Amino acid sequence: MANSKIKYIGVNDHNIDLFEGQYDVPNGMAYNSYIIDDEKIAVMDTVDGNFKDEWFQNIKNAIGDKAPDYLIVQHMEPDHSANIDEFAKAYPNATIVATDRAFVMMKKFFGTDYADRRLVVGEGDTLSLGECNLTFVMAPMVHWPEVMMTYESHEKALFSADGFGKFGALDVEEDWACEARRYYFGIVGKYGVQVQAVLKKAAGLDIQTIYPLHGPILNENLGYYLDLYNTWSSYGIESEGTLICYTSVYGNTKKAVEILADELKNAGCPKVVVNDLARCDMAEAVEDAFRYGKIILATTTYNGDLFPFMREFVNELTERGYRNRKIGIVENGSWAPVVKNKIVKAFELCKNLEFAENVVTIHSAVNDESIEQIKKLAEEMK
Ligand code: FEO
Repeated sequence: MANSKIKYIGVNDHNIDLFEGQYDVPNGMAYNSYIIDDEKIAVMDTVDGNFKDEWFQNIKNAIGDKAPDYLIVQHMEPDHSANIDEFAKAYPNATIVATDRAFVMMKKFFGTDYADRRLVVGEGDTLSLGECNLTFVMAPMVHWPEVMMTYESHEKALFSADGFGKFGALDVEEDWACEARRYYFGIVGKYGVQVQAVLKKAAGLDIQTIYPLHGPILNENLGYYLDLYNTWSSYGIESEGTLICYTSVYGNTKKAVEILADELKNAGCPKVVVNDLARCDMAEAVEDAFRYGKIILATTTYNGDLFPFMREFVNELTERGYRNRKIGIVENGSWAPVVKNKIVKAFELCKNLEFAENVVTIHSAVNDESIEQIKKLAEEMK
């Protein structure tokens, strides 16, 4: 908005190799930060420590020689909090605003909880900057316990912390949903219940613009983003189709998967997606598993257990509360296949999962008997 008092002071990171030490970010990462330039000036979060100088310059570019009155800390993960202490030193008259839990973390990160210059806020507390008025919305576990969001009523702006964030720097054009979904299920996916609680609070607010800590500012078609977040956080099914995730040591399980994919298509399955877990981005496979309602796991027995990449994948799903889906199983083992029992056991604490009646059991290589089993499984999972 041309006359907005809210200015972007974030940075793009194209040097990062793995975000949070594990996620590939081929298009980099944005660490967003904002400044509300009103009678009182508030800075909304800091940025990653590698971008301290650029961020301070962005502040100067936005407000010149004026000094911020407040630093609002919504989230203490270092991609946003790394420069709090540098900010406190650079602007000694500024007040640090955060939840009590955030101040406990500041003590751990910086050796101080800014007791002489802080404002502890909780649910519904407000802070007036002049025309702009902030209301703090607690968002614990989205995705750390100290997280809060901030609603600014003059411009109807929601500062959503990690919520509505995505992978990717802001100077690269790419589809929002693809990298937002991978980000959501990778990073926030375990906390669907807590995201649902925040969405219920957001439904009571008149929101025109969402200012996340990663990814673009959202100011059009907000219903689209809110609907996707509602689907994701309620473990709903976003897309029709069947996902096959597999591992294969010598190509025999892969051959079964190729036949299965063809049989699914022949049976009328609206979309078939196949991931080789040893070679794909595991975070892509995880996002797909939550995107589709039907998933087939095909793997070999290895050291009396699931093949390692499948074991990791199943663990990624169960630790995120995988639920509301139908699972099919293709097992392979030359002398003692244990895959079916291991998979059923691994998911035993997950809610509302159904296992396909038809299981494909391969003893080393696909034969006529296993092809018949594959056809039956395809018919059930189409
Ligand atoms: Fe973007 Fe949870 O930090």
